[in-house]
Amino acid sequence: MVERLAIEGGRPVREEPLPPPYPGALVMGEEEKRALLEVIESRSPFRYYGPAPQGKVSEFEATVAARLGVAHALAVTSGTAALKVALVALGVGPGAEVVVPAYTFIACVSAVVSARAVPVFAEVDETMNLSPADLESRITRRTRAIMPVHLQGVPCDMDAIMEIADRHGIPVLEDCAQSLGATWRGREVGAIGRIGVFSLQMNKLVTAGEGGFLVTDDRDLFLRAVRAHDHGYLREFSGGTPFLGENHRMSELAGALGVVQMGKLDGMLAAMKRAKRAIVEGIRGIDGLTLRPVPEGAEDIGTSVIFFVPTAKKATRFIAALDAENVGASAMYGGTVYDANPQVKDMRTATPEGCPFTCSLYQGRVSYDHGICPRAEDLAGRLVYIPLAPTFTDRDVEDVVRAVGKVAAHVPD
Ligand SMILES: Cc1ncc(COP(=O)(O)O)c(C=O)c1O
Repeated sequence: MVERLAIEGGRPVREEPLPPPYPGALVMGEEEKRALLEVIESRSPFRYYGPAPQGKVSEFEATVAARLGVAHALAVTSGTAALKVALVALGVGPGAEVVVPAYTFIACVSAVVSARAVPVFAEVDETMNLSPADLESRITRRTRAIMPVHLQGVPCDMDAIMEIADRHGIPVLEDCAQSLGATWRGREVGAIGRIGVFSLQMNKLVTAGEGGFLVTDDRDLFLRAVRAHDHGYLREFSGGTPFLGENHRMSELAGALGVVQMGKLDGMLAAMKRAKRAIVEGIRGIDGLTLRPVPEGAEDIGTSVIFFVPTAKKATRFIAALDAENVGASAMYGGTVYDANPQVKDMRTATPEGCPFTCSLYQGRVSYDHGICPRAEDLAGRLVYIPLAPTFTDRDVEDVVRAVGKVAAHVPD
């Protein structure tokens, strides 16, 4: 019997949607409740003082520092805040350029602009991460940081990126918002560049609803980050030169959630890697699909399965057909790059003066027009993204494999 696609009126592969892509939130339970209650009952939700501070944020920082094998960790209010604080700590400001990958979440761009510097896009390759082969051509004498993004749990080629960055004397800020627990040649991502940044927003493995943190081995950089996130204060530390900062301090409530969730990280990683391995094995041989490669030396965390189909038109049809089978898929960032966002393409800032793009200290010229990163544009359009969750059952895994096979066999080019 010929199977009909659900989108054409056939029976879907499954009746219910897959578990949603909220890994850490899906495994929240009594432990998180108890930790939050401790903070509430102490009536001390602020990390630095109160009737009986519980030290939750400090404990969270110590936990992530130990886990990642770094000297310093600083918890903040979001991944975007962590990016901004890291950029400020690195001394990135007016006149500077920061190289970011053409395919990433918009926060990478807005954090650079918020630090009053100018983002410069570089190509991604078929790993959907920053292309080392393209990176060097985007470096100018104004480049003050390189921001590789370990997209969807797959580490960038950090050997190649670090070699180029070191040769030019430019610091690397790793954006690990989507990749806590991923490793490159056995080292945790975030601990390879000068500074690494993570998010605790709800789509992430470890979540506090909102939140973020940064890690570094460089004490001076850490102290600058502490000042940048807390009005220029150091409180528990000393050293360096004061400057005006902002407030990106984490609350004890978020810290309490973070500590408990870190305890669940290994369990989530094991479940997600297992699910991803089985799905990849199951769909590897399907005609017309090209799996997103994981570079040699990279250990990814299994948060998603990504593959490419031959055309953007087919990707759109493929995604709609998978959705109808109740296997949620998407194009990720709309299957587009920077130029689909009018605020990026037209360099729209919050006020009409247009700083940092119009800043007299900025001596470069940058364009975000279609065509500046053609490889990224092509790959983004042909990508199919299936998010996974740590609660996937064997049945869920089988359904994904069956649905991909069914859709691949029937969706026209
Ligand atoms: C690659 C990347 N960078 C930065 C961020 C910003 O993190 P947050 O949402 O916590 O501000 C995200 C969030 O989704 C992200 O995916």
